[in-house]
Amino acid sequence: MECKGYFRKLDIKFDTDGYTLDCAGLDVIHVYDKTTKYAQRAMRQYKDYGDVPVTTYRPLQEDESRLLQYLPKDLLDIEVPELWAMNITPVDDKSYLPAHKDGTRLCSINFYFDTHGEVTSYYRTNANILERVGSFCANHGEAWLLNSDEIHDVKLSNPHIRKSLGFSFKNTPYEVVSRYL
Ligand SMILES: [Fe+2]
Repeated sequence: MECKGYFRKLDIKFDTDGYTLDCAGLDVIHVYDKTTKYAQRAMRQYKDYGDVPVTTYRPLQEDESRLLQYLPKDLLDIEVPELWAMNITPVDDKSYLPAHKDGTRLCSINFYFDTHGEVTSYYRTNANILERVGSFCANHGEAWLLNSDEIHDVKLSNPHIRKSLGFSFKNTPYEVVSRYL
């Protein structure tokens, strides 16, 4: 499944057992706790839309090394991405990882674990209105390439904590990374 220029399901089969997905005790990389202008628009446009803060963490080195093996060597010759871990905790049935562009990375290869029907959506803006261009629901054991330089959000699945590990490309854009996958 693909939404051209925004996201793509990858043909990567990975071993899903034994990673440290619980971020308690891991070092913090970034805290995203400000309501973005995109989240403000989403809350004006959609009812039942609430935002929760997001923090990214540094996973265990052994987990990073293990997942790096699934990426093509010629992609790693361009950029060796950093693995980031996320635990996002919903507070109620309206909770979203709110609409945003990452700012800290251009794209990401996400590995999903213990999913509960969370939905990732992508948007473009037209005269200050958010227009949804596509959505996907990733399942446990799937890897997806996401363009984090476009507006996206995640509808969480209360009360389940969203857990993922993702390789962050800070310098190589989505279109380039996509060519190698
Ligand atoms: Fe993001």
